[in-house]
Amino acid sequence: MAYIEIEDLIKVYKSKALEVVALRGLYMAVEKGEIVAIMGPSGSGKTTLLNILGGLDIPTAGTVIVNGGSLTGFTEKEMVKYRRDGVGFVFQFFNLVPTLNAWENIELPLRFAGVGGKKRTTRVDYLIDLVGLKSRRGSKPDELSGGEQQRIAMAVALANDPELILADEPTGELDTETGKQVLSIFKDLKEKYGKTIIIVTHDERVAQIADKMCTIVDGTIKEEKGKKSIKTKESNKRKKGEINKSDSAEPSKLLKSDNKWMILPIEGTDRYLKIEIVRKQGKKVKEKEIP
Ligand SMILES: Nc1ncnc2c1ncn2[C@@H]1O[C@H](COP(=O)(O)OP(=O)(O)OP(=O)(O)O)[C@@H](O)[C@H]1O
Ligand SMILES: [Mg+2]
Repeated sequence: MAYIEIEDLIKVYKSKALEVVALRGLYMAVEKGEIVAIMGPSGSGKTTLLNILGGLDIPTAGTVIVNGGSLTGFTEKEMVKYRRDGVGFVFQFFNLVPTLNAWENIELPLRFAGVGGKKRTTRVDYLIDLVGLKSRRGSKPDELSGGEQQRIAMAVALANDPELILADEPTGELDTETGKQVLSIFKDLKEKYGKTIIIVTHDERVAQIADKMCTIVDGTIKEEKGKKSIKTKESNKRKKGEINKSDSAEPSKLLKSDNKWMILPIEGTDRYLKIEIVRKQGKKVKEKEIP
């Protein structure tokens, strides 16, 4: 079993007037210690996928397994622990606390996790050194450059030593040189510490450190490139020719949905896909083509 296994992942955002299908049956597998880059147009579902993987959002249907544990099956307590210790987030906008200095920002997640005394101090010292900013320990975020803030944000994400690191556009706001530094920290984390890292990015340079590149279009993975290809049931089926063209055509608009069913037109055809949403945790989503 892969470290991360995602099957048939569906996320529908509902508001009064509108329903948005952000993920529509996404499959993905990631091995432990891999760096996977996720690219794709704006609005294709990249952040939605990261939020679900990080336990910040709940899928409408589908299975998400990380390190043998099913996220949709976690109790609230298990989810809190997973978010705190299992996974680290690096965002584009560095989400540092402006009133705390660099050192204190890194210390914060350790306080939340109840790490005390000497152990906490030693860990913060180690992390600030890891990202090369020992000399700026007393600086507040607004006294640091964008790249320095990003590196502090990485140290914050690493504070509780998560196995999985999720990064959303980590180099998006950075100049070339600083972007390179950030990427080399990710590379170190993989090579020295065996971390599994998923990076959402528009930055082609991430290819230099990634084991796999995948492209999300309209809520499903369209393309996978890499040293090893992503093995999923879907890609196996594609290889075997079990998925035919009409199945993989992109349903463009949600036509109708209630709690049990979604009806999606299949682009370029006059057919529709009826998706039954079975909400029982981690279980199947049934798909049926209707005329
Ligand atoms: N909380 C929400 N409520 C309603 N719709 C949402 C919500 N979050 C995201 N969406 C919609 O879901 C779709 C996917 O959004 P997502 O943020 O995952 O895209 P993205 O690939 O990260 O885009 P970008 O590259 O612009 O960051 C979009 O159509 C977006 O408008
Ligand atoms: Mg996004």
